[in-house]
Amino acid sequence: MTSVHRDVDDRIDFRESSDGGPRRPLRELSEQDLRAHTAEVLDRARGRSVALTDAVDDEDLVKQHSKLMSPLVWDLAHIGSQEEIWLVRDVGGREPLRPDIDDLYDAFQHPRATRPSLPLLGPSEARGYVEEVRRKAFDVLERTPLSGRDVTRTAFAFGMIAQHEQQHCETMLATHQLRKGDPVLHAPAPPPAQVRDLPDEVVVPAGSFVMGTSVEPWALDNERPAHEVFVDAFAIDTTPVTGARYAEFVDDGGYADPRWWSDDGWAYRSEHGIVAPRFWRREGGRWWRTRFGVYEPVPDDEPVVHVSYHEAEAFAAWAGKRLPTEAEWEKAARYDPATGRSRRYPWGDDDPTPEHANLGQRHLRPAPVGAYPRGVSALGVHQLIGDVWEWTSSDFRPYPGFVAFPYREYSEVFFGPEYKVLRGGSFGSDPVAVRGTFRNWDLPIRRQIFAGFRCARDVHPGDAGV
Ligand SMILES: [Fe+2]
Repeated sequence: MTSVHRDVDDRIDFRESSDGGPRRPLRELSEQDLRAHTAEVLDRARGRSVALTDAVDDEDLVKQHSKLMSPLVWDLAHIGSQEEIWLVRDVGGREPLRPDIDDLYDAFQHPRATRPSLPLLGPSEARGYVEEVRRKAFDVLERTPLSGRDVTRTAFAFGMIAQHEQQHCETMLATHQLRKGDPVLHAPAPPPAQVRDLPDEVVVPAGSFVMGTSVEPWALDNERPAHEVFVDAFAIDTTPVTGARYAEFVDDGGYADPRWWSDDGWAYRSEHGIVAPRFWRREGGRWWRTRFGVYEPVPDDEPVVHVSYHEAEAFAAWAGKRLPTEAEWEKAARYDPATGRSRRYPWGDDDPTPEHANLGQRHLRPAPVGAYPRGVSALGVHQLIGDVWEWTSSDFRPYPGFVAFPYREYSEVFFGPEYKVLRGGSFGSDPVAVRGTFRNWDLPIRRQIFAGFRCARDVHPGDAGV
């Protein structure tokens, strides 16, 4: 694959929303409408962090449920601390509220495993702190011109902080999944499959497409700039790999056969004695799982979740395929062959609705494959957004022309071969924190995140469909 940087205008079309009202790009909203929209997004994030922390008692909030995670009370005050630093101090130019706690909630200074031993704010203090910060942040939002500086233009810093809070909500949801005990979170089941007998894969002919964005106002630095990428012909699975299909790999001895595993993957599997996805257990001749305190059979038609990159890669090798690169994933998601342009989302430029994708913790699980026909991409690929994060084979690297913004620690310090890119968001990702261009990254050993995958393969001229 080759990648050539050039200036590309991936301007977003003006569209009507599904409810008939105007759905205009953020940068075309009046300041008043942009403020109202931003306040609504911040409120939604706060409603969720409050619900996730109110769901358990104080003892549970300060406890570390896994060495991989922070105590929930750390996440809560960290959300407030970042909001204070960016919105109250930087954007608002106001006096610090609690400069004494900056260090405690600096994720770079304290790895997760050590956080419980810090003199953290207690539950009621943390709740009072985030409320006070939010009052001041709203005052700043009311009084700050949403133009001029890069951090205030189109309310960027507010959008960044809303995404940050929602990302921590997803992390807190992962902590809930690791927590022992009776269920404390409840949500309706996702919709059933609407379409069945989908083809196994979609063939995408060779060609260029526009990857990344230069115009999405709340896109983060690593999604920028838009650049043209040539992608060889490939085939990609129409849906994520399901629990039933993954169980075939497990039952075929996939975890005991080094042929399917990379050296690193095999070493990791062996050292930790891994024999199935995290939270799976074999009982009575079938696979069961624990999901937010509920013990239930692994559903056949839901995308598999809680697998590491190493496991995804081994499954793909067993299936005679490979993982997609992130350029392949993004082309499958955004490229519209009829117009030659890249859309914001698989279904078009409109923001996600509950008919498009399983997002926002509306359901506490992925939806069966075929549940979101309205979310299909122009190329015919389903459920790219929502349900499960999808591992790609790509290392987390900067795009050509990358500029760190607003600070190096957001993305730049993570670039390199250590992290793999995940795409598309999960049932636990809020719509504000997922786009067709959004890039997540994590270590290839991580399994507590809501990650699954789909496979891809090379196709050659002369193959059917090319
Ligand atoms: Fe954070």
